[in-house]
Amino acid sequence: MSDENRSVKISSEQQGADISYPVIKKDHYEKMKGEAEYIRDVPFEGLYESAFVRTTIPHGRIRKINLPDLPEGYHSIGGEDVPFNRCHSVGDEQPVFTDGEVRFIGEAILMIAGPEKKICEELCSRTEVEYDELPAVLELKDATESYQDYHYDKGDPDKAFREAHEVYSETFETGYQEQAYIEPQGVVSVYDREKDLLQIFGSMQCPYYVHGALKIAFERDDSQVRVVQTVTGGAFGGKEDYPSLVSCRAAAAALKTGHPVRISYGRREDMSVTTKRHPAILEYSAALDEQGLITGLRVRIRLDAGGYPGLSCVVLQRSVIAASNVYNVPNMDVSGSIMYTNTPSNGAFRGFGGPQSIFAVETLMNHLAARYGMTPLEYRRKHFFKEGDVTSTNGRVHQHVPIPEMLEKAEELIDYSRKYEEYGKPQTGRYRRGIGMSVFFHGCGFTGSGEAGVPIKDENGNITGYNGGSSLKLVKDNKDRVEILISNTDMGQGLKTTFSKIASKCLGIPYEDVTVKNPDTQRVPNSGPTVASRSIMITGKLVERAALKLKAQWIPGEHQEIEEKYIHPDFLIPWDNDTFQGDAYPAFSYGLNVAEVELDTLTGASRLIDAAGVFDVGHTIDRTIMLGQAEGGMLQAFGYGSMEKMESRNGRLMQNSFTDYMIPTSMDTVPFRIAFIDNPYSWGPFGAKGAGELTLDGGAAAYEAALEEAMGREMSAIPATPERVLKALDGGTEG
Ligand code: MTE
Repeated sequence: MSDENRSVKISSEQQGADISYPVIKKDHYEKMKGEAEYIRDVPFEGLYESAFVRTTIPHGRIRKINLPDLPEGYHSIGGEDVPFNRCHSVGDEQPVFTDGEVRFIGEAILMIAGPEKKICEELCSRTEVEYDELPAVLELKDATESYQDYHYDKGDPDKAFREAHEVYSETFETGYQEQAYIEPQGVVSVYDREKDLLQIFGSMQCPYYVHGALKIAFERDDSQVRVVQTVTGGAFGGKEDYPSLVSCRAAAAALKTGHPVRISYGRREDMSVTTKRHPAILEYSAALDEQGLITGLRVRIRLDAGGYPGLSCVVLQRSVIAASNVYNVPNMDVSGSIMYTNTPSNGAFRGFGGPQSIFAVETLMNHLAARYGMTPLEYRRKHFFKEGDVTSTNGRVHQHVPIPEMLEKAEELIDYSRKYEEYGKPQTGRYRRGIGMSVFFHGCGFTGSGEAGVPIKDENGNITGYNGGSSLKLVKDNKDRVEILISNTDMGQGLKTTFSKIASKCLGIPYEDVTVKNPDTQRVPNSGPTVASRSIMITGKLVERAALKLKAQWIPGEHQEIEEKYIHPDFLIPWDNDTFQGDAYPAFSYGLNVAEVELDTLTGASRLIDAAGVFDVGHTIDRTIMLGQAEGGMLQAFGYGSMEKMESRNGRLMQNSFTDYMIPTSMDTVPFRIAFIDNPYSWGPFGAKGAGELTLDGGAAAYEAALEEAMGREMSAIPATPERVLKALDGGTEG
């Protein structure tokens, strides 16, 4: 028996058990044995390599490009080689190759492709570019021009502030965060002249995003473009829209040279020019009653979008909607802007705007609690929302909110309240301890009406599906094995495994008889992108429905196909994107993080000594996968809050390797105490809700709260680097 078959065999006892019962991941053996083929491993005949000439000033106009003589077999590719020189994201702002105006350091002006990478690089380094420089906006705090602004109100914020006993204001700042996927960006484009087919193979989250961008840039129709995802070594949002840009460049080169062309970023190149988490400035004002409870919030959020807006407006939507986190604030006035600066564009990163707002709200709660003589937990308990309450956007909290159970679990896991009291007593000596908690949510799936598309109705007027909404296919062969055809990608979060478990459970067939391959747009329908923690809840539900349908029609030994289309939940308050009113999400997942830290007051360095995470993701589809998501997300969050420092100086990102951009390693962590609260959601498969991003949303706030207790001082910015901590200890402003 091959390893692969042995690995996925589960006993009939396990087959009958709860779906959460862990199995070995579908891709476990190929990855553990090093056999998985990433794009750099895939052989292509006649493959050309490539390198880029990039902009070296933050703002200006290109006056002249002086190319060296190109040896035979080497080609330069630029904007003139792309029929519509724009890379489609939410809009079409960013050129595939910069043409005229330069908006940040590191934009691709042109590309040289040919047989040897080193020669391509050398030719690029000998290319000279002359510019006319223009004034540049280098810092978010100096930015005045926005790409997009949003605003919404809830209740009567003016009245709340007029009648407030006191108004408390604080400004929070959060920094960049780099996705730090193991595999940098990489794609290969192959143009099949005979079929006039433009193909991309590569590391990506969203094959249909790349497909759409290629169609627009190269003015082609659906059948003339093919996109295939290869094994993807992590993405975390960084491969949501960026692969579209590299794919358009590779495609232009493949069309021009007639050879397959590979773009394969090195780590420094990747970190210097790809999208990151948006730095943010969040101004909060709270209207308070006599007891210090919040009656209203005024919030202004500014995200640094960088040189082009890309996905930033969608990221901002999540930030502004999360402005009150899990708290019932009756009156709100929230606005947000994505600001233009002459720095590399920012984009999607696990959490998608949530971590910035959640850091701000959670820190605000701690600071208000201290002012009114309450513990952070006592103060929070007076504000938590519950089922039936009105959300920030006048939607409803439709399902049970298990925060009380989560708090109980956290006490059990890490003894939070006792330690909080203990560390709150005066501490002396060089090393001091603190413990911090954050409670948070993540709206599951796309924001607003993104998932719905246009309703399709039957003759009785019942909605049977949505045009433009996601779809998927199940194909059964005559050996009764089933393949799930979807466009969602496995990037480490385990979709091949979880989707197979859902189908096998519903069909009552062995897990090893279900397969999910890497998507190829010529084979799979568009089940939407792998973003917004939507795969399990949205596409997984389609798998469940399709599998139950197939089971009902099952004919042993025959080839059968089932297609299923998304149905929008019928209980939702319709979303209005102009006013930001209605249910922004069908459901929320909930998280609670506790960080316990030790601070060296001499150096300002801190380290984690214990941590706990309690999560409600509905019902877990695979306990081990979910544990991986929890541990990975929490560690990324603690890194975001404590050590992941990236700064741009004169428009250049100063940290572009893991020597100078520090992420937590196994030496910086401790075993996390993790628990899941079962709170099944009826519109998710087997009760599952979104899970992948939630785990990163709140850890930074918990870490900072722990540090504040250890220091006996307040902070309002992350990352809490030793420099910032020392400043705060000295009584200076740490910002
Ligand atoms: N986990 C791993 N191992 N690798 C990743 O790239 N991406 C995160 C998260 N967890 C990621 C990950 C992001 S950005 C998202 S949106 C969700 O997984 C997607 O999870 P889903 O496909 O289950 O919706």
